[in-house]
Amino acid sequence: MLTVLKSLETLWLWREQHEGKDIGFVPTMGALHAGHLSLIEKAKSENDIVIVSIFVNPIQFAPNEDYDSYPRPLTKDREKLDNVGVNALWAPNALEMYPEGFETAISVGGITKLLEGSYRPHHFDGVTTVVNKLFNQIRPTRAYFGEKDYQQLQVISKMVKDMDINTKVIGCPIHRDKSGLALSSRNAYLSRDQLDIARRLNSVLKSAPDWMRTMEIAEVEKKLEDILVQADFDKIDYVVIRNAETLKPVKNKHEEKMRVLAAVWLGKTRLIDNMGI
Ligand code: PAJ
Repeated sequence: MLTVLKSLETLWLWREQHEGKDIGFVPTMGALHAGHLSLIEKAKSENDIVIVSIFVNPIQFAPNEDYDSYPRPLTKDREKLDNVGVNALWAPNALEMYPEGFETAISVGGITKLLEGSYRPHHFDGVTTVVNKLFNQIRPTRAYFGEKDYQQLQVISKMVKDMDINTKVIGCPIHRDKSGLALSSRNAYLSRDQLDIARRLNSVLKSAPDWMRTMEIAEVEKKLEDILVQADFDKIDYVVIRNAETLKPVKNKHEEKMRVLAAVWLGKTRLIDNMGI
């Protein structure tokens, strides 16, 4: 049976009842899909109990972004969590998370200024502030994050390390549909034609490892961008090859672990994807 927790008081009571157990935590913004469920399955396999949070976090959205229109199918989400045997759902409202007078922020330096951070300047502060609060509220043994949001995973890992948070951050592989499209709550915004184009994103990125064998990084990045433009994406924010941990430009491709990362637009929808090289 899924226990639904909506106030901090009930959450803390629940937490007290489970002292001493291994607690797996999967933070989400809801509109749950198979990608979220793959994180939950991993959490279930490694912990005594699993708690999922659903909270559409206002402070990680810029004013021009989709906070108001972000899908919130809470009844369906609850059913899904119950069906897969999640123990508890933490679903606070915005006022429970950010009461009147809230004015503290957690801000990770360095890595948050790159890539996503340069297109969405306050985004990661919003993410680290809410995830820090969620970690304090729940004190999980392990927390599960998807490589879908690869930079987010690296930022959270850095925060946990820098702030001595006693939670193990576990990165999980990207869950894709048969065409290779990474599942995302935002895919729901795409028309049928846009979905056909979106499905090309991952197949383009997949060429990168091969090209890296014979070409310079800048050439590979240029070629990827050209092909994405030809594939009919409306705008390319970036498609780059970076150090897999720091996300800084690669100095020596023979020595560093690398990752190709992209952010592209279809109409008003922004899609991200990445893969290891
Ligand atoms: P949300 O976009 O709902 O994603 C919740 C978690 O699911 C993230 O760790 C994300 O990387 C993972 N995820 C999403 N799609 C996935 C896929 N196709 N395969 C594998 N994992 C996938 O990310 C957030 O929410 C928020 O920023 C949050 C961390 C909850 C803070 O508000």
